[in-house]
Amino acid sequence: MAIRNVLKLGQDDAALRRHAREVTKFDDRLAQLLGDMAETMYADDGAGLAAPQVGVLKRAVVIDVGEGLIELVNPRVLETQGEVTVVEGCLSVPDRAGRVVRPEKVRVQAQDRTGKVIEVEGEGMLAVCLCHEIDHLDGVLYVDKMIEDVSDRYRKAERGAQDGGQVQ
Ligand code: NI
Repeated sequence: MAIRNVLKLGQDDAALRRHAREVTKFDDRLAQLLGDMAETMYADDGAGLAAPQVGVLKRAVVIDVGEGLIELVNPRVLETQGEVTVVEGCLSVPDRAGRVVRPEKVRVQAQDRTGKVIEVEGEGMLAVCLCHEIDHLDGVLYVDKMIEDVSDRYRKAERGAQDGGQVQ
């Protein structure tokens, strides 16, 4: 595994704004990508990372909100419930934070690294992360949905309950 460079908004960021392609090959290359993404996420103390953030336009994300690593390939939201306002950050938007409205609960269908169909249900921080990461696959960043920029008031302690602190 290897740590990959995380693209930052405003610099070499074209891949962040593009629509990622469905994964059709569940091969060693995909396994390598997912492994590298997890390593990169942990190295940056993030709670999630999407493939476009490392310049790979494939529909793959990794998430760990403190309950273990989740790998999702070709994820899509099946159902959402409720609404919650959270403060998010993003590894591609360093040193900034903003308030975003997200579902309280979400049900996602995806595939694992072998192509097996799986379902993940999340609430709270996991729901937020799932939505944030899946947005990345469509070129959407939290700053596009932000209802308030709280970068100035950003304090690390404040971010625990949301997008993972230094998420995605
Ligand atoms: Ni992000």
